[in-house]
This record gives sequence, structure tokens and C-alpha cells, in this order.
Amino acid sequence: MSRDPLSDVKIVESWGKNALPWTKAVRDGQIDSRRLITNQAIVEAVLSRSPRTVLDLGCGEGWLTRELAARQIQVTGVDAVPDLIEKAQSAGGGDFRVASYEEIAAGKLKISVDVMVCNFALLGHKSVEAMFRAAPSLLNAHGALIIQTLHPIMACGDFPYQDGWREGSWTGFSADFTDPAPWYFRTMESWIKLFRDSGFQLLEVREPVHPKTRKPASVIFIAEVADRVFALASKPDLRDTDSAQHGVPARFTSQPATS
Ligand SMILES: C[S@@+](CC[C@H](N)C(=O)[O-])C[C@H]1O[C@@H](n2cnc3c(N)ncnc32)[C@H](O)[C@@H]1O
Repeated sequence: MSRDPLSDVKIVESWGKNALPWTKAVRDGQIDSRRLITNQAIVEAVLSRSPRTVLDLGCGEGWLTRELAARQIQVTGVDAVPDLIEKAQSAGGGDFRVASYEEIAAGKLKISVDVMVCNFALLGHKSVEAMFRAAPSLLNAHGALIIQTLHPIMACGDFPYQDGWREGSWTGFSADFTDPAPWYFRTMESWIKLFRDSGFQLLEVREPVHPKTRKPASVIFIAEVADRVFALASKPDLRDTDSAQHGVPARFTSQPATS
């Protein structure tokens, strides 16, 4: 059966076909913007929250999980592509599991973390919206959702500045890559609306600038669950203490890691 070439399912299928060259490209530092700016930018954004636990969504071959785990953070990396998770596991440095955003939205992951981070991995349409809706239930009190993605102004190209599916391309990558994954373009306004509609309040938007082009290399969003920001602001004594001891509603407290 042929897949819709512009669909969430096709994204995962394409990444499955490119697991090996992608692993090599990341580990050999073949992507300039990552080496020069965006890798450091996402690590700094996560560390700015001083997390003890992190969930790396769409972790790929696992570089960010390893980078954070080396700083004594307990990190779980998840990805829909088994071959990428296998590569991640064999490099070690984290707890890696196969899980798609759709499965996470359906409750597959029974963990609760201080930071959910997603580095250039929110590429789809409905799968991304489902993951956003599920995210608050996976975050501890004062937990943050941190997303680094293509800067809409830079990624728009010659197309109209409006949400919609775009064809993928491996321009600039080696000939080993095949069948590029499509992706769903979102305007800056749509990203901000997605956070708000999913119950998040944006705390910060960062625009790392590429040192050579002097243009935005990405955009990084840092958000907390909105009613928790309000609840904690109105009860400052809860900020630095164990939420469970202070009667914070159950949905704000940690769950044991059972899977
Ligand atoms: C550009 S790669 C980024 C990988 C990694 N975050 C990094 O920084 O190198 C995009 C990743 O998103 C994953 N992905 C895409 N759609 C997904 C979905 N629905 N569920 C889980 N992972 C997904 C792909 O398998 C791929 O590993």
C-alpha cells in the first residue's frame, strides 16, 4: 500500500530508511549549523532549568541524551525508529526506548520528568499536536517543555508564509541519504498558538544566530504548564520544596518510572 507522501506516517518511514547515514552525519559533525551553534544552544537551554530528569523526544541516534547524561542528569531518549534507538543503545549513556509521539500521547510512557526536550524532531502535523496535548502529564511541577526547531522565517523559503506540508530534501547531505521525510511548516504565530492551546505558557523564545550567516539558525521555545506557573506564583512557598509534601494536586506530582 502506498503511503500519503505528505503525512506523519511517511515521516517515520523516511527516517527509518535514513537511520544509518543520519547517525554518521551527526556523529561525524557533518551539519555545520549544529556544530557551530544549535547543539550548544539546546544544551544550554536545557541546563538553564537545572533538571534532574529529562525526556529527549525524537532523540535519533542519541547525541543530546548522551551529552546531558554526562552531566549527571537522568535522561530517557525515545524515538519511533528502532534502528536509531539501536544505534543510541550501542553508544550507551542513557535509557533509550522505541516510542512514537502517537504512542506517547496514548500513554505508553509512564514517566514524569523535569524537562521534555525536542531537538529538530517535531516535524509532523497531528502527531506533534497529540504529543503537545500529552506533554503536561509527563512533566513534574515546574517542569519545562523545550523545543528547538527550524526558524519559520528562515525555513519558509519561497512558499507562502502559512502552515502546511512541505516536501523534504537532503540537499547538502551525502548521496547515502534517500527518500527525504516531508515536514509540516508552522508559522511563528502557529507555534505560539500550539503552546497556548496545549496549556503551556511560553517563558522564553531564543533565536540562536549562525556565526557565519548572521541569520537565525533556529528558534528555541521554553515553556511551562500555564496553570502551574500561576499556581506556583501565587504560592511561592511551593517553589523550592517537595510538591508532594505541600498538597499540590496529584497531577502535579511525580509518578514512578514504570516503563
Ligand atoms: C532531525 S532528526 C533529530 C534527531 C535528534 N533529536 C537530534 O537532535 O539529532 C528527527 C527525529 O525525529 C524522529 N521522529 C519523527 N517523527 C516522530 C514521531 N512521530 N515519533 C517519534 N519520533 C519521531 C525521527 O525518527 C528522527 O530521529
